[in-house]
Amino acid sequence: MSAKSNQRGAKAPLLGSKIKLKIEKLAMGGAGVARHEGMVVFVPQAAPNEEVLAEVTLAKKNFMEARIVEVLTPGPSRREPPCPVAHTCGGCNWQHLNEDEQRKQKEAIVFETLKKFNRDLEFNYLPIQPSPRVLRYRNRIQPKFKNNRFGFFARNSHQIVETMDCLITEKTLTEHFAEVKNWAAAKNAKDLLRMEMYIAEEGDVRYGLITDEDDGIGFSQVNRFQNEDLLRTALDWAGDHAYEKVFDLYAGAGNFTFPLAQKYAGSEIIGVELNPKLVERARSKIHDKRMTYFMSDVETYMRRASIGKEDLVLLDPPRAGASEYTMQTLAAAQPRKIIYISCHPVSLARDLNWFFAHAQKMGVSYKLDRVQAFEMFPQTDHVETIAELRVDS
Ligand SMILES: C[S@@+](CC[C@H](N)C(=O)[O-])C[C@H]1O[C@@H](n2cnc3c(N)ncnc32)[C@H](O)[C@@H]1O
Repeated sequence: MSAKSNQRGAKAPLLGSKIKLKIEKLAMGGAGVARHEGMVVFVPQAAPNEEVLAEVTLAKKNFMEARIVEVLTPGPSRREPPCPVAHTCGGCNWQHLNEDEQRKQKEAIVFETLKKFNRDLEFNYLPIQPSPRVLRYRNRIQPKFKNNRFGFFARNSHQIVETMDCLITEKTLTEHFAEVKNWAAAKNAKDLLRMEMYIAEEGDVRYGLITDEDDGIGFSQVNRFQNEDLLRTALDWAGDHAYEKVFDLYAGAGNFTFPLAQKYAGSEIIGVELNPKLVERARSKIHDKRMTYFMSDVETYMRRASIGKEDLVLLDPPRAGASEYTMQTLAAAQPRKIIYISCHPVSLARDLNWFFAHAQKMGVSYKLDRVQAFEMFPQTDHVETIAELRVDS
């Protein structure tokens, strides 16, 4: 963005100037939040409760952005990142904070986002679930290769930060970096910017190009250690009711579908997933007549879904969340319980609003029983959340 296009708004004269800021907290997206003469300033790479000297890089009518020039008084949670390339690599944006602070900020971000969208929303908010591993947890990554350099994109750039390790990635994968670099070099292409490495379900390491025709593994939970806790919680919150049908929407390759089928042995189990590769993988594992897997967009499926009052619905949409139509159809169907798993607090908050607005219109009373943030992506600002909705009888 040119300096000129950054200059719109009342604070334009401040652009490029250096100001002292006190960081109050962190926001979604990872930046620190400070105030200058009443205006919010977002400061990447900041820690809560620290004083920084920062240069204004963007001045809009309602907010500014600033880059740290000097940390004047470090916040208590600031630390030297464990990874030597963390200052430049675009992969982790919270390595400069200790893990307690990372969790505390995520817990607050989820709560504040839900309340921001709906001040009257009441729920039992459980403490954030820590990840069993804070490093070496990722089992799927997208390294880059350019001009014989292997690594990851730098922060806000397509330059390569060269590295032969990644501290948040499982060793089983990083041990193959040299092999993958040689493979990429042998392809004789100037750059390979869309590739993927992952640990397959079978335990072996796989890698390849991502193309428009082949999107690699599609989707898998990247933190298998924390996924176990998430699964356990989802099954526990779903309860012991003998549901007639159990729906797993945005089901992937069946991460939740198969455990649900095992727990609800008398129920009909229905998975809905758009990605053909994931559907095929799930279908190859089905050996039970109670289970059906639909390859469909969820909204399209909802137009003909017969969800009843004695059913359970689990949904785990991508970051964009579900659609208004999907949430309205869910509210109208009145399933006994809904477990919503989200990887983006904003789309969760928006979807809950759509759901409650429609439920109210239909005269149906639902309760947001429990919400819990899950630390699925340590060293980054990303957070997973699980929420339980049930008919309030
Ligand atoms: C966050 S993942 C969850 C997958 C699965 N529940 C798991 O735990 O592995 C979201 C899934 O939704 C699928 N998806 C995205 N948009 C969709 C849509 N409109 N309809 C159905 N599935 C969709 C993606 O392919 C992906 O598998």
